[in-house]
Parts: sequence; C-alpha cells; structure tokens
Amino acid sequence: MSSTPLLSTGSTPEEQELARQGQAIRSVYVYEAPVRIWHWVNVFCIVTLCVTGYFIGSPLPTLPGEPSDHFLMGYIRFAHFTSGYVMAIALLGRIYWGFVGNHHAREMFSIPLHRKEYWTELLGMIKWYAFLSKRPGRYVGHNPLARAGMLLGFFVCGLFMICTGFALYGEGAGHGSWANTLFSSWVIPLFGQSQDVHTWHHFGMWAMIIFIIVHIYAAVREDIMGRQSIISTMVSGYRTFKD
Ligand code: HEM
Ligand code: HEM
Repeated sequence: MSSTPLLSTGSTPEEQELARQGQAIRSVYVYEAPVRIWHWVNVFCIVTLCVTGYFIGSPLPTLPGEPSDHFLMGYIRFAHFTSGYVMAIALLGRIYWGFVGNHHAREMFSIPLHRKEYWTELLGMIKWYAFLSKRPGRYVGHNPLARAGMLLGFFVCGLFMICTGFALYGEGAGHGSWANTLFSSWVIPLFGQSQDVHTWHHFGMWAMIIFIIVHIYAAVREDIMGRQSIISTMVSGYRTFKD
C-alpha cells in the first residue's frame, strides 16, 4: 500500500488520522490475471449466449424481403456459436490454470467435502446470508458457500451447456464432423432425441440465469456488508480487508 502522507489542505485532523489508519490496511493478492481475464471473458460469452439463445428458442417475427438480404437469424446463430466456441476454449484454459495457478485457482474445482469444518463453515455462511447470524469469518479466496455455488452453478452447468450445445451444433455440422463424433453421438441418444436436447439446453439457460442473479446479488452484498473488497478483487486481483 502507498504510504504517501495525506496533504493537510482541505482535510481535518480526524480525517488525516482515519487516512493514516487506512494506510495500514493490508491487501492480499488472490486472483491471478488468467482467472480474472477468464471471469470477464466468460461473463461476456454467457451474456451473449443467453441473449442469442433466447432468440433462437423464441425467434423474432419474420422480416419482409429476402432472408439472405438481412440474414437476421443467421447473425444471431453465428454470434451464439462463436461465443459457444470461445466459452468452451476459455473453460479448457481455466481448467489448465487450476493445475498451474495458485491455490485460489483450484478452489472452484476442489471442495473439501470430507472435512467436518467445511460443513460447519458452510452452515455458518448460509446463516449469514439468510441474516440469521453474524459473519462467521472472512476468507482470502472464495467462501465455502461460494465454492459450492460456483462449482455447481457455473462449472457443472457450464459443462452441461457445452456438451448439449455442441451436440446440437454437431447435428448441423453433419456426420463425420468433430462435434458430431465427440458430442452428438452420445448426448442425443442419452436424452432421447434432438428436441429433448434442445429442451434441456434451454432449461440450462434459465438455471444459469438464476445462478447469475444470485451470484451478482451475493457479490454486491458481500462487498457492502463483508468489510472486505469483493468486486474490485475480480478486477485488480487484490483483496483488501477493512477494520
Ligand atoms: C454471466 C455472468 C457471470 C458468471 C457466469 C460468473 C461466474 C463466476 C465464476 C465461475 C467465478 C469463480 C471464479 C474462479 O474461481 O475462477 C466468479 C467469481 C466472482 N464473480 Fe462472477 N460471474 C458472472 C458475473 C459477475 C458479475 C457481473 C460480477 C460483479 C458484479 C461478478 C463478480 C464476481 C466476483 C467478485 C467473484 C469472486 C468472488 C469471491 O471473491 O469469492 N461476477 N464468477
Ligand atoms: C451458457 C451457455 C449457453 C446458453 C445459455 C445457451 C442457450 C441456448 C438456447 C436458449 C437455445 C435455444 C434452445 C431451443 O429452445 O431450441 C440454444 C440453442 C443452441 N445452442 Fe446454445 N447455449 C449455450 C451454450 C452453447 C454452446 C457452448 C454451444 C456450442 C456451439 C451452443 C450451441 C447451440 C446450438 C447448436 C443451438 C441450436 C441452434 C438452432 O437450432 O438453430 N450453445 N442455446
């Protein structure tokens, strides 16, 4: 932290004392650049996928004129498939970083379910979020509830969307395409038929939207009530603890 003294002009002695105390606050480097870049690329892809996916499922009214002149659904589907590719490749990169990054980079993938303390702390966090108790403690990385939520809501759900999405994509790409061989060949029989995969892929979108709403609420709430930086930590990488 910078130790530059506060200039006295325009600030009272009390404010200067508060600023000096602020200079003693320590920040911890938590999220490395690849985790942060992945987070925001992923946000961009998922928002694009939700908007374009919604219009694939509920298409806009037919436009007048030659379809090839405006190509509206074509652009919507193109944006969907491009973001789908970027999301899948970025997730592979994030999994790689889970192996080579710092230990906070692994928190989303490895949950210590076998440890009693994990369950006690998880319950403590649930009570805190439900306004039933004081904050049980502060965490440098993700808290126990965030870890479970991110694993299920974003990692497992994200994988589900990628598998079902590429299964549908492989149908269009045709037999012999990599997507058809790797995904359509087992995903479509697993769900029954193509329309079932569409329906589950569509449900998956709403499940993710619910997780995203809860996630943003929790991040903003914790930023205000948790006495520590949360949102800026996903931008700068540093967690700052207040008093
Ligand atoms: C499509 C929307 C979003 C998705 C899918 C998403 C997904 C995720 C995931 C997977 C993580 C875990 C990161 C890791 O360990 O690698 C995470 C963390 C985080 N996200 Fe998001 N996120 C979304 C939107 C947002 C937005 C809009 C904000 C800001 C308001 C935000 C703030 C954060 C913060 C602060 C963390 C770190 C929480 C902590 O320190 O424990 N996210 N998010
Ligand atoms: C968060 C991720 C995703 C969301 C929210 C999402 C959402 C949607 C939705 C709502 C639909 C319409 C389903 C229907 O009612 O028929 C759809 C269709 C589709 N999605 Fe996704 N999707 C995601 C990821 C992916 C990925 C990774 C791919 C892979 C390329 C993909 C490929 C497709 C394909 C091929 C279709 C069918 C297009 C058509 O029938 O014209 N999606 N998606």
